[in-house]
Amino acid sequence: TILIVDFGSQVTQLIARRVREAGVYSEIVPFQLAEEGFERLKPKAVILSGSPASTIEENSPRAPQAIFDSGLPVLGICYGQQTMCAQLGGKIEGGLHREFGRAFVEVQKASPLFDGIWAEGTRHQVWMSHGDRVTALPEGFEIIGASPGAPFAAIADEQRRFYGVQFHPEVMHTPDGAKLLSNFVHKISSLPGDWTMAAFREQAVAEIRAKVGDGKVICGLSGGVDSSVAAILIHEAIGDQLTCIFVDHGLLRMGEASQVVGMFRDHYNIPLVHVEAQDLFIGALEGESDPEVKRKTIGRLFIETFEAEAEKLGGADFLAQGTLYPDVIESVSFTGGPSVTIKSHHNVGGLPERMNMKLVEPLRELFKDEVRELGRELGLPEQFVGRHPFPGPGLAIRCPGGVTREKLDILRQADAIYLDEIRKAGLYDAIWQAFAVLLPVQTVGVMGDGRTYEFVCALRAVTSVDGMTADFYPFDMDFLGNAATRIINEVRGINRVVYDVTSKPPGTIEWE
Ligand code: XMP
Repeated sequence: TILIVDFGSQVTQLIARRVREAGVYSEIVPFQLAEEGFERLKPKAVILSGSPASTIEENSPRAPQAIFDSGLPVLGICYGQQTMCAQLGGKIEGGLHREFGRAFVEVQKASPLFDGIWAEGTRHQVWMSHGDRVTALPEGFEIIGASPGAPFAAIADEQRRFYGVQFHPEVMHTPDGAKLLSNFVHKISSLPGDWTMAAFREQAVAEIRAKVGDGKVICGLSGGVDSSVAAILIHEAIGDQLTCIFVDHGLLRMGEASQVVGMFRDHYNIPLVHVEAQDLFIGALEGESDPEVKRKTIGRLFIETFEAEAEKLGGADFLAQGTLYPDVIESVSFTGGPSVTIKSHHNVGGLPERMNMKLVEPLRELFKDEVRELGRELGLPEQFVGRHPFPGPGLAIRCPGGVTREKLDILRQADAIYLDEIRKAGLYDAIWQAFAVLLPVQTVGVMGDGRTYEFVCALRAVTSVDGMTADFYPFDMDFLGNAATRIINEVRGINRVVYDVTSKPPGTIEWE
């Protein structure tokens, strides 16, 4: 185990992720509990995180002295480096030379930290974010890397295996950062890289059991990968103390509701309430064409429906959610810019307080690709694990204007054909999200000898890394022509197909 002492940096989880990638188990402990965590975990090495605090301020957080006295390797990152220096007899000064963003470190001396990556005398890009900096080293330390704004950008006491870096090796903008952390873990701390998702699963199961005890848990299941993986993991931990509530709002894709019920109730034997609320939702949407009103109506009905079902079950002590780490980060302070608010997701937000439930969020530390890996580990079929994102308000926001059952039926068929073609062409995994949109526009066409007057279907496919920005997918014309022909021939109600070539920004991925 590696103990990560968290001083409140927004990117501490990224340190844990890099350590996991290096195949070593780590645990993050807030600095207030570091002493107790150090004793409990008996780690083989310690990493001290960054922080919004300044070591110069009175009462700023410190690492337990026991860590430095233990003889274990220690890596201090940013604030972690500064507090290590301050605690071991060095000096820190406040920011005349603040450095934010990209910087270059010149290697002054070879070190196991740089082994196989950075040779003496070479320069490398790193990501800095600091106001204070180290100005005098504690005894035993030497400079191994320097940048213009941080003469002590990387320091080491090779004897005691204490290392400090002013830059952030855990972020992507430090291209060699993952390898530096891997060196600390493998070469300096001599830990084997044999930790896997199977170990995470075991650990998570134990934690869920400890937290829940014999309490009751309910989970809102959408069929998406996050809530699916959370539900299976929790069920593995506590069995039938978990009940899933699947609110079927009638806005799902073709066959989706029966897939969800089949997978969770029949395959995994998880107690599942399938709430057939199609009439309620579609009835409330009929005649409403304002996109925001549609979204809010769906959100409100969802919460009301969920709450009513939970009450029928006699309530619960815990609400399970498939919250991921990116949903947790609210600001990315290391850029030094204003905090970025991550889009609030359509989920059962607000419910825990209203119903007096505590939260169980076993995926809080994971990133999307790690959740997928965990899903595979839990035996969830690829069809669920690799699924494109699907918005909470479902097909309602892919039916601009008023939503009716008929329109939803037409859209579902077109969407299924389009996705079928994408899968057959082997393109599903190369695309972030693909779907059909049914436009509230009718156009004239000719089929056989007759005139037609039917709806237009727009096709959308984008590539993206995180959904925040996106590019349209450059299908070849044969593919599009073929998909269009199939949709027009097979779906009654559509006589024209167009392709959306808008990127995000300025467009959004969804049409509403
Ligand atoms: P936009 O349309 O804003 O979408 O470019 C970005 C990503 O978010 C998804 N999306 C939602 N997901 N609840 C969700 O859980 C929602 O209300 C919602 N609206 C959009 C969208 O599908 C895309 O992946």
